[in-house]
Amino acid sequence: VVIVDQTLLPERLEFVELHTVEEVGDAIARLAVRGAPAIGVCAAMGLAAALGTERGSSREHLLECARRGAQLIRDRRPTAVNLGWALDRVLARATETPGDAPAVLRAMRQEAECIREEDREMCRRIGEYALQLLPVRARVLTHCNAGALATSGIGTALAPVYMAAAEGREVSVMVGETRPLFQGSRLTAWELTRAGVPVTVITDSMAPMLMRDGRVDLCIVGADRIAANGDTANKIGTYALAVAARHHQIPFYVAAPSSTFDRSLAGGGDIQIEQRARSEIAGGSGRVTVPEGATVENPAFDVTPADLITAIITEAGVHYPPFDFRSS
Ligand code: MRU
Repeated sequence: VVIVDQTLLPERLEFVELHTVEEVGDAIARLAVRGAPAIGVCAAMGLAAALGTERGSSREHLLECARRGAQLIRDRRPTAVNLGWALDRVLARATETPGDAPAVLRAMRQEAECIREEDREMCRRIGEYALQLLPVRARVLTHCNAGALATSGIGTALAPVYMAAAEGREVSVMVGETRPLFQGSRLTAWELTRAGVPVTVITDSMAPMLMRDGRVDLCIVGADRIAANGDTANKIGTYALAVAARHHQIPFYVAAPSSTFDRSLAGGGDIQIEQRARSEIAGGSGRVTVPEGATVENPAFDVTPADLITAIITEAGVHYPPFDFRSS
């Protein structure tokens, strides 16, 4: 599997080949590939490709390797539900496919490719629905990166932006740096400038001031896991944006494919939040920015309660509160 090493952007655009489940797991853990849908697709394709070395083994041995490999990859990032969802799909396909190891491997690859194609299509449909919510001239505030880099297609939160730009509409984006790993300034700004979409990078704490000054028409963010009641886990800082948007009466939208819903969870309180290393905050910029005696907290995500969300846009349409995704 070939991925863009997102840790090197925006300085360098480099591709990395992943051959083993360990390499796939490491790429996911160090955020070389990131964004919930992209993680899922990479995991599914990576597992199927890495097991190619087991082509000559028995069907039972291959299935056992698949289960172990999936577990190793799955554990690397706990919040993005797409990761386990995609791995489970490939595993289920493997188990139900009759025949020898090569037949099972072929089916796993097909399933992984199917997940990638579905993801592409879901992005497009999310874009079409979300486009209807954009004013003629739209100044969009987003957070982190929920664009092409985070998916197999044109992104989720950024999909309507790309579509509006393609139609020649006036659209611009503001994005917070997204500390501590700078997905907003490094990645969202990189892909939007490449596409010729005007983008302004702001510090994460600037957003409420811009809202107060009337410089934001709407907020759109992606999601890593959405509970049945609409509570949404997304990059740390999303909750603060939603609170500020409510205060300033600015629409706050979440855009996500159905693969990001976790219908088994009644509410956001049950979402496991990934805790990341102290070094990302205390030494991430190449110098020591926190004294040794101070503790650091580094949750990768926070949960925005459903009542702060104006609508959730999926490939099936625009969903307004009260949300109930238990069976949809
Ligand atoms: O830690 P990251 O960079 O994987 O976090 C990504 C996000 O929070 C995205 O908003 C989310 O995964 C949606 S991507 C379409």
